[in-house]
Amino acid sequence: MPVHAHLCAEARVIADLGDAQRIAHLAEDHWIDYPRARQALQELERMLDCPERTRMPGLLLHGESNIGKSMVIRKFLRAHPPREFNTDTGLLQVDVLAVEMPSAPQERRLYGQLLMALNAPYRPGDRLAAVEFTALTILRKVAPRMIIVDEVHNLLAGTAHEQRASLNLLKFLSNQLKCAIVALGTRDALAAMQTDAQIASRFPSFELPRWQENEDFRGFLAGFERQLPLRQASRISGSRAMVSAIMSATSGITGHISELLCRAAEAAIRSKKECITPELLQSVIGARSFA
Ligand SMILES: Nc1ncnc2c1ncn2[C@@H]1O[C@H](COP(=O)(O)OP(=O)(O)OP(=O)(O)O)[C@@H](O)[C@H]1O
Ligand SMILES: [Mg+2]
Repeated sequence: MPVHAHLCAEARVIADLGDAQRIAHLAEDHWIDYPRARQALQELERMLDCPERTRMPGLLLHGESNIGKSMVIRKFLRAHPPREFNTDTGLLQVDVLAVEMPSAPQERRLYGQLLMALNAPYRPGDRLAAVEFTALTILRKVAPRMIIVDEVHNLLAGTAHEQRASLNLLKFLSNQLKCAIVALGTRDALAAMQTDAQIASRFPSFELPRWQENEDFRGFLAGFERQLPLRQASRISGSRAMVSAIMSATSGITGHISELLCRAAEAAIRSKKECITPELLQSVIGARSFA
């Protein structure tokens, strides 16, 4: 039997390293595949492949804070990295351009984010008309097939007028550049986008929900365990006690689950137990809050 057969290939290598290196490894985010995220990624791929048409596709990927929205986008971006750096224009050539909605949601700042993401010059003091002209000229040259805007709930920090203007800008960009637009945010983003029927119809919603105690959740936990560099199998997903304890301590929020399991793995390394047991898990849950 191969050594550490309970682990994925990467974790097998890490599992042989010293305690400090293994603990440092736990602090890094590692992508774990799960059905809902896979569906989201498939939807993004489908949108990216959409041929040019009058009405380009849009999507609002929403879910609670810490649920895993940005992780899905990071995974998608790894599959679609910038193509090249054009030395003539000094611009990045990208198929997928990802930015964040500014915390003060004004059109000028949103254009600024797009320009900065392309390594293009942007002077925050410039007037809207000038920034818009520069941004559209550059964006037409780069011709991204998809623009992703994260943190769309930041819209709610703006006035009603700013909210409408920023949302209309997304629609305008989609029409002008013939590119797909993906918005990401919490329920507040959903609320902001649903106030306008035209926007709502351009951005069908796709939710990343909290975990429920079901087969998908056990699959996610099993995937998580495979990349924790512990030398013994914990068999978390097969233990009803551990699955329920994780669910009730984290309220089914992916980020909390990840934090809890990483803390538990660290405790397993430090205590030389080398696996997560129900007792060890309870002691980690008792030591601090994960919700
Ligand atoms: N697919 C995944 N595999 C492993 N860990 C994940 C995954 N998705 C989420 N996580 C964990 O959850 C944490 C939060 O994820 P992420 O930052 O994507 O949340 P979010 O929904 O974008 O939150 P916010 O709305 O606050 O920006 C990550 O740092 C990671 O630890
Ligand atoms: Mg995020």
